[in-house]
Amino acid sequence: MPKTTPSRRIKQFRFTPGTTVAGKYTIVSLLGTGWEGEVYTLREQGTGILRAAKFFFPHRNRRSRTSTFYAKKLHKLRHCPILIQYHTHETIFFEGQRVHVLVSEYVEGELLSRFIARQPGQRLSVFQGLHLLHTLAAGIEGIHYLHEYHGDLHDENIIIRRYGLSFDLKLVDMFHWGSASPENIHEDVFNLIRIFYDSIGGAKHYPEHPPEVKAICCGLKRSLILKKFRNAGHIRQYLETMQWH
Ligand SMILES: Nc1ncnc2c1ncn2[C@@H]1O[C@H](COP(=O)(O)OP(=O)(O)O)[C@@H](O)[C@H]1O
Ligand SMILES: [Mg+2]
Repeated sequence: MPKTTPSRRIKQFRFTPGTTVAGKYTIVSLLGTGWEGEVYTLREQGTGILRAAKFFFPHRNRRSRTSTFYAKKLHKLRHCPILIQYHTHETIFFEGQRVHVLVSEYVEGELLSRFIARQPGQRLSVFQGLHLLHTLAAGIEGIHYLHEYHGDLHDENIIIRRYGLSFDLKLVDMFHWGSASPENIHEDVFNLIRIFYDSIGGAKHYPEHPPEVKAICCGLKRSLILKKFRNAGHIRQYLETMQWH
């Protein structure tokens, strides 16, 4: 077998705003850089509509397996309103290499991490935190119901579109840990509780919280949390029927 020279690893794209990609989008700005690739805001040239696109580093997306997986998963979950909508899967060439691009809905809003950081004391009140947890649990319930999981729930993957009496949220990004096993669903449950726990002040403020909060957070002990909640729907039901003393 002839040896092929391995291509140089692409470590960054760093597209300049104004660049045309895939013959129909213009790069607007860089949204984030991660392990799998870079995320940009794009403008669709034909319509002027803004989109978000993840450009995968080829070594993180061999034979386009990861990007295709996300595309299929977002498509399967397209009726879950908490998730961004998938649009298209594109292929471009960058430095002579094939690069796959996942184009999805662009969500205008503020990252949960930033929202919390600008609150007084960098934390939410208990009732705001409960509203946040309820919105997340109700949204993710639909994903678990379809025997799927998110896999990467944390405050940098949650965008707040509107905040009023309650939250209007969208989840971006997911992670593929393999098939939707009970363990993967349990990981989402644990991460939901952790987001709530952190949002109301984390370990520093935990001792001063009322027993109703402790009954939900279970001291952040995974086994106790999972004994109480097996999926996101259980958390939602619990919150809707809990009684404040
Ligand atoms: N559809 C989107 N709409 C708006 N912002 C987005 C969207 N997707 C990603 N972002 C922003 O880009 C950041 C990185 O994107 P993400 O998909 O989380 O990739 P990664 O964590 O692998 O870098 C997010 O934290 C968010 O701020
Ligand atoms: Mg992310």
